Amino acid sequence: MPEHVEVARSESERGELVLRSRRDAEGGPSALELRANGVFVMDTVEVGTERALAAAALALVERPARVVVGGLGLGFTMHEVLADARVERCAVVEIEEALVGWMRDGTIPHGPALLADERVVVVVADIAVALAEAPPASYDLVLLDVDNGPGYLVHDANAALYDRPALESARAALAPGGALAVWSADEAPQLAATLEAVFGAAEAVPLPVRLQDRDEHYWLYVARVPSGS
Ligand SMILES: C[S@@+](CC[C@H](N)C(=O)[O-])C[C@H]1O[C@@H](n2cnc3c(N)ncnc32)[C@H](O)[C@@H]1O
Repeated sequence: MPEHVEVARSESERGELVLRSRRDAEGGPSALELRANGVFVMDTVEVGTERALAAAALALVERPARVVVGGLGLGFTMHEVLADARVERCAVVEIEEALVGWMRDGTIPHGPALLADERVVVVVADIAVALAEAPPASYDLVLLDVDNGPGYLVHDANAALYDRPALESARAALAPGGALAVWSADEAPQLAATLEAVFGAAEAVPLPVRLQDRDEHYWLYVARVPSGS
């Protein structure tokens, strides 16, 4: 059985947020794990698809100067965004203020170096609200990874993020030639249909992932705003 040690804990109106370290029985290197209300959100072991969310979306846009990432998590998507020299500004919208604090103060050890990049702006807010309030054509890329997918929400209120009004806000916040990418643990045909209705087309991209000796797929849902629109 792996050994868990609590690193930090916080309460918000959405419930408890817990950061803990996990070491497997064989005594390998310890991993950090984030849980919200008892639901596993992510860990630092399998982060290939968090990175792939950014990499696949960055490849679709000619000039991704302005990027917004919905959901800081442990910062891997943001890290991949910052590795792209074309990115001039990366806004990260995170609903849990405590998590931003743990990244800033080094409770999450790789946090301070990531946030020191002068292109990063961290906003404590609901990404749905941030997109609804964004001026038109503010971003070249919108990356959403706030749940385990539309079918497995971290917070029930996030259901609205995958409905037409929120996705219309995301489209309006994108400049011509821009793209939206949404991470999902499972296939999400309803999300694909809504994206098609809002953007005219959408693509489901399988992301291979190795989970406890099994080869599985996570999914990326991508939709683009035509360059001339
Ligand atoms: C799966 S993690 C993101 C992982 C991230 N892509 C990474 O690479 O580490 C989801 C994050 O979204 C945040 N979150 C959940 N709902 C949100 C919302 N409505 N607006 C902004 N952030 C939200 C959670 O607190 C959590 O930090």
